[in-house]
Amino acid sequence: MRLKNAVVLVTGASSGIGEASALAFARSGARLALCARRLERVQAVARHCRELGSPKVTSKRVDISKSAEARGFVAGALRDFEGVDVLVNNAGAGWSGHLKDMPEDTIRQLVDTNLLGVIWTTQAALPAMIAAHRGVIINVASVAGYRPTPYSAVYGATKHALVGLSHALRGELSGTGVKVSVVYPYITRTEMVGQAAGPVYSAEWVARLIVRTARLPRRDAIVFPLRVAHLLEPVFGGLLDHAIGEVRRQGEPDLKG
Ligand SMILES: NC(=O)c1ccc[n+]([C@@H]2O[C@H](COP(=O)([O-])OP(=O)(O)OC[C@H]3O[C@@H](n4cnc5c(N)ncnc54)[C@H](OP(=O)(O)O)[C@@H]3O)[C@@H](O)[C@H]2O)c1
Repeated sequence: MRLKNAVVLVTGASSGIGEASALAFARSGARLALCARRLERVQAVARHCRELGSPKVTSKRVDISKSAEARGFVAGALRDFEGVDVLVNNAGAGWSGHLKDMPEDTIRQLVDTNLLGVIWTTQAALPAMIAAHRGVIINVASVAGYRPTPYSAVYGATKHALVGLSHALRGELSGTGVKVSVVYPYITRTEMVGQAAGPVYSAEWVARLIVRTARLPRRDAIVFPLRVAHLLEPVFGGLLDHAIGEVRRQGEPDLKG
């Protein structure tokens, strides 16, 4: 897909991977519809996108977990731009800790944002994309949608569900001209992970992967360590779970012994 003047929708564009993706699409000359809950932040990103050369940018306060707002965002973009070429379902929420300690409203927030939010925007965009016989839906999953890790059970479940949704939809859309791709970021330096230790990518690196996926849609845009992890999974998967569990337990005296 040629990105110059293409209409690109990005959810969760107020920070991190969504912000970096918006800026990267702007550099390619795409027109942009951006949303997030923090309006001032997303408006600032929109200004930056215009400075970088995007011919038209809109920014809206949207809570993607609310069906009417999520659908309204897409409907507004369709009115403003008369079409959608790329939908980047990036908005997401995380939480880490014991499942037994996870508050019910946080569980609902993760499911409503990471899974249902994607369903609402996608349902709203599909009729126009199918009618136009083109378009790319890029769902930002996670390493946790590929290989769930202990202490992020619900987050991993939402991302696994997102991967399943994406691949099923890809089959449904076969022959329509509309593509569905899944991007699996590895640990990325953003507000979501704070000062996470270990190997980290920059949001800009993941954004480049997202833009490349829009240009050349593929089923799974998987980063290097995940490919290796996938190959080694049968041998090392159980060991990894055990190791992560041990590290966590050492920091939690109540679990020792
Ligand atoms: N960072 C990582 O290591 C990592 C790894 C794998 C996958 N991911 C995925 O990458 C995506 C982006 O996360 P990030 O790392 O860039 O974190 P981030 O900087 O915290 O960005 C999350 C974005 O989602 C938006 N958002 C959250 N809940 C929302 C809601 N209910 N409605 C609308 N927008 C909402 C936030 O905006 P507002 O708060 O302004 O609404 C923000 O713009 C997520 O789907 C995440 O699961 C991240």
